[in-house]
Amino acid sequence: MEVIVEKNYEEMSKIAAELIAELIKNKPNAVIGLATGSTPLGTYNELIRMHKEEGLDFSKVITFNLDEYVGLHPCHSRSYHYFMKENLFKHINIKPENTHVPDGIAPDILKFCEQYENDIKNAGSIDIQLLGIGSNGHIAFNEPGSSLGSTTRVKTLDSKTIEDNARFFDNRDEVPKYAITMGIGTIMGAKKLILLASGKNKASAIATTVEGPITAMVPATIVQLHPKAIIIIDKLAATKLTREFPAVLGTLQGKGRARDN
Ligand code: PGA
Repeated sequence: MEVIVEKNYEEMSKIAAELIAELIKNKPNAVIGLATGSTPLGTYNELIRMHKEEGLDFSKVITFNLDEYVGLHPCHSRSYHYFMKENLFKHINIKPENTHVPDGIAPDILKFCEQYENDIKNAGSIDIQLLGIGSNGHIAFNEPGSSLGSTTRVKTLDSKTIEDNARFFDNRDEVPKYAITMGIGTIMGAKKLILLASGKNKASAIATTVEGPITAMVPATIVQLHPKAIIIIDKLAATKLTREFPAVLGTLQGKGRARDN
């Protein structure tokens, strides 16, 4: 596992975007796993800038999103379909038919989940999967207690997640209680993982993810077993790491970056 500590959110986002852009340049038909939430927005803005100013070409890129709320129509302003359209897809030259976001209103959700897994396999598996992390250590909507080998399925949202995500809704009661999510096994099937975290609200989850024992109670800890996992965080999210990162950052003042394998 590689840990990169950047001085702030903007630098963290740039590194993530550079890694994704490098993949797309080397493999124009790359399969990219995407995430929603506040954390990846800076990465998406940088990818949009690269597309507009440097001609980064998404015309053959295929994407699969991690998750979607059950019951929200794709046009609903809080759905992850809408989020992806507004924050990335409509600003780049990706083909709509090459983008995949779980269908929260699928009539047969079990069948849909099976198909989603098959679609990922048929696309040749995910080259880079972008991940955020919940303050409770979830990845996608794999909440604490999720099976570490799970595949795409419906999960009940943890009360901490409902509390964290209430900021996107008018009130807590409006946050959907269920979501379709790629499983932890699905995520671990990606060839490379990039996990992003910013801010002190994520510091405990990051410390456990990087240094703690692997446990289903903190699903993100599974990334320790991935052969190509990169954790990119800002200084605030790094504050609870006990190894050399804070000290290294001190000696790198001005450069702002510390990395470790
Ligand atoms: P956030 O969510 O990026 O909005 O903090 C991350 C997550 O819950 O996975």
